[in-house]
Amino acid sequence: MSTTQLYKNWRLETDTDNILWLYFDKANSAVNTMNYDVMEELSHIVDVLANDQKHKGVVLTSGKKTGFIAGADISEFTKFKDIEQSTWVLTVGQQILNKLESLKMPVVAMIDGFCLGGGMELALACHYRVVEESSKTRLGLPEVKLGIHPGWGGTVRMPRLVGAFEGLNMVLSGHTISGKAAAKIGIADVAVPRRQLVHAAKYYILNQPSRHKPTLLQSLSNQKIARQIISYFLRKKLNQKINPQHYPAPFHALDNWEYEGVDNDQAYAREAKSCGKLFFSDTCQNLVRVFFLQENLKGLAKESNFNPTHVHVIGAGTMGGDIAAWCALRGFTVTLQDLDPKYIAPAIKRANALFKDKLKEKYLIQRAMDNLIPDVKGNGLSKADVIIEAVVEDVNVKHNIFKMIEAKAKPTAILATNTSSIPLDEINTVLNMPQRLVGIHFFNPVAKMMLVEVVKGNKTSQEVFDKAMGFVRKIDRLPLPVKSSPGFLVNRILMPYLLESVELLNEGVPGDVIDKAMTDFGMPMGPITLADTVGLDVCLSVAKYLSQYFNSPIPEKLIELVQQKKLGRKTGEGFYKYDKKGKQIKKPLSQYDKPLTTISDRLVLRMLNEAFACLREGVVADGDLLDAGMIFGTGFAPFRGGPIHYAKSQGIHELYQQFVLQQQARGGKPETNNAWDTIVA
Ligand code: NAI
Repeated sequence: MSTTQLYKNWRLETDTDNILWLYFDKANSAVNTMNYDVMEELSHIVDVLANDQKHKGVVLTSGKKTGFIAGADISEFTKFKDIEQSTWVLTVGQQILNKLESLKMPVVAMIDGFCLGGGMELALACHYRVVEESSKTRLGLPEVKLGIHPGWGGTVRMPRLVGAFEGLNMVLSGHTISGKAAAKIGIADVAVPRRQLVHAAKYYILNQPSRHKPTLLQSLSNQKIARQIISYFLRKKLNQKINPQHYPAPFHALDNWEYEGVDNDQAYAREAKSCGKLFFSDTCQNLVRVFFLQENLKGLAKESNFNPTHVHVIGAGTMGGDIAAWCALRGFTVTLQDLDPKYIAPAIKRANALFKDKLKEKYLIQRAMDNLIPDVKGNGLSKADVIIEAVVEDVNVKHNIFKMIEAKAKPTAILATNTSSIPLDEINTVLNMPQRLVGIHFFNPVAKMMLVEVVKGNKTSQEVFDKAMGFVRKIDRLPLPVKSSPGFLVNRILMPYLLESVELLNEGVPGDVIDKAMTDFGMPMGPITLADTVGLDVCLSVAKYLSQYFNSPIPEKLIELVQQKKLGRKTGEGFYKYDKKGKQIKKPLSQYDKPLTTISDRLVLRMLNEAFACLREGVVADGDLLDAGMIFGTGFAPFRGGPIHYAKSQGIHELYQQFVLQQQARGGKPETNNAWDTIVA
């Protein structure tokens, strides 16, 4: 094998069969991402290959230990000067991939690990795709998740390769699929175990079997009449899921495909122009911001060298059961303790369903089940590295538990509580070493909610806190450092918003109208539905708890419903009624004669008021962390970039004035010592 090193980001090797191995190994980077520099070098390599007589073909693959290509370098998304420049960069990229596609010698993309976005588009321009078969190999075009659509020919090549149904699904949803699934629908030519990858790649070069072609039906799906019919239905389906004003990119991709199809140069030109414009949309700029907020949270625990292997969870209820299951799924040994085996059994059943859903393969499911050990006697306590208490929200019960934990835990173990509202300094009073207690506050449902608040009490030691941050990353959640204060960050901000929405109900605004106002704003779920889903008893107890500190009134309606045992979805009735499967019984939308923004403005302002209070009190260190917490902990409209970012974009001073007017209109004096004062001053 001979190696040539002429490029910063690419390594070229010729093997004894005269196959050129082209390794993408981005300089100074742990992962392969594509930028102008990388593409310029690729362009030069392709130009040389166009006149190459020596090689039988090229295998394009990754020179990194893990992953093929993660996509384009997202940090460049916000650096374009203007639309002309972004469109030009995309057009140049398309030209390079077109050159690659038209090489006479066969070109194979050999893919092991993630192959996303620009990486997928590069692979689509190759003549064959050979992929590693496991679900760790992920292929996809997730651009819509960043508010754009593919711009290097992906929206054209993908439906051309596998037809409109599968192809557009990849483009419009942004979903990724495994190596095996990619081979099944024809995006990959073959999926093989890792040990056979090289052999398979060489086979395609040496034998040059005919290239993948769409079936007749798939080809027909890209014809003009079919495009008009299909896009009509797809647009309708998209409209049911997302608002084109909030997330325009998939709608643009669909329009482009309908208008230009997949067989002419204009299709590429239109794609570049359309994507070039989307870079400058608020949605794209804000979603890129959210991407980096997420990276920031991940980075907070980077330095941790805490390597726990055993987690002991006390309390196998809604939260403890699901926390235990999640940790077992992530490979930890987990002992799960409760008062009686009958309380642990439902948690094990739920865990099994989770493992089946996430792991698919029988042996992996069995391995995860083996990780999860019911432990009524609490034998795991003395062996665990992390002990998480998730029993009922009662400080006396928690006191008893922590006395027992401290007596049995090994000295290096961290002691954590999942309390959602009790300040740590009220729990740690029973500990000989209160510095060992930290809050690790998960959200419900654990398997879906990425955020975990890591709570530092006045006495929590920095070492324990850092270990807790590291542990949360190890179980693949996003750790948000917060100060121990009532409700911490997310519930503290969410609760006034929920209570304000119940207040609106009291004033006669129909619940479904309130919900619609907030989903129109971009929330994943309206506040009235959210309260029913969380459980009105839970809302009431958190509201009562927080009202001790913040003197906030609790709406009568909430108290009434809880007294009537109408607790929401779980009892079949709350603010709404539910069928036996817990599905909301829908009625036509109620009439309301004012603009819905009057409702959303009022609710959002209430939320912002609390957000500013949290900043002023230092519950989180800065606005970016607050935004990340609300986006990943509550789903706060990601395309708006988070509450603080939203307030800045609207003008904090103007919003504050609106808030004051609102308070006055409701007969109350605007709060003195208002949270916004210091921020607007
Ligand atoms: P839950 O009522 O579903 O579960 C509590 C479990 O603790 C029960 O299985 C009970 O048998 C067990 N338990 C009680 N005393 C015990 C003892 N002495 N030894 C062992 N087990 C004992 O409660 P849930 O909802 O799971 O809440 C648990 C904690 O998590 C609370 O502190 C709550 O504030 C917090 N939390 C709850 C959230 C939610 O959405 N439900 C969200 C985040 C935190």
